Amino acid sequence: MALLGVNIDHVATLRNARGGVVPDPIQAALVAEANGADGITAHLREDRRHIKDADMTALKQKIATRLNMEMANTDEMVSIALALKPYMVTLVPERRQELTTEGGLDVISHLEALQENTKKLQNAGIKVSLFIDADLAQVEASKASGATIIELHTGPYCEVFGTQKQAEKLDLLMKAAAHAVKLGIEVNAGHGLNCENVSPVLALPGLIELNIGHSIISDAVFSGLGPAVRRMKDLIS
Ligand code: PXP
Repeated sequence: MALLGVNIDHVATLRNARGGVVPDPIQAALVAEANGADGITAHLREDRRHIKDADMTALKQKIATRLNMEMANTDEMVSIALALKPYMVTLVPERRQELTTEGGLDVISHLEALQENTKKLQNAGIKVSLFIDADLAQVEASKASGATIIELHTGPYCEVFGTQKQAEKLDLLMKAAAHAVKLGIEVNAGHGLNCENVSPVLALPGLIELNIGHSIISDAVFSGLGPAVRRMKDLIS
């Protein structure tokens, strides 16, 4: 059964809208865990637009499950991760103007820098995952980087879910996941997943974990966070 990592960035976005302390992303993480989350994902962005450094420290201290720190492959972020020691780092591309992570990492073009920092993080006992598009060449470059995990970008599949293009995008994910398994790489997946589109993704070869944020927090507005996490967890189960 795939693990569920709940991304709590959006709780921090709401908190920061008023500059205060509520809603508290740490409380959200604890509620998510109490309702079946297997891990907590938080993205410390260069511009700190949602999660702040203090949130990462508090998450590391307070959660009982796995902390997945999403971050760009920069010297600043690598040194924060080395001090924090999350269970896992997921390296993502980052652009200041984007609303959310828009595409996968170009591992082929940034192979050297990724190799160097992957080794540094792994030497500190931190697992390294690379967020990539469902592309066989990027899967191979991920293997060459030394990372032992990839997170496949499910956004393009989610965008065409329910249309004629769904099968084609799902097939790309399936092939990329199968290739990763062949190379001995673990497979995570995420971005844009919700209760309607998640089921076909559960069939990805080698799938270990799904990272889901926006749809769970959106459902939580109407049903409460606990029931929203539980609903997704039950679907995955
Ligand atoms: N995985 C990665 C690498 C992401 O950047 C995000 C968005 O922060 C997610 C998963 C979760 O995406 P969503 O919020 O659309 O569920």
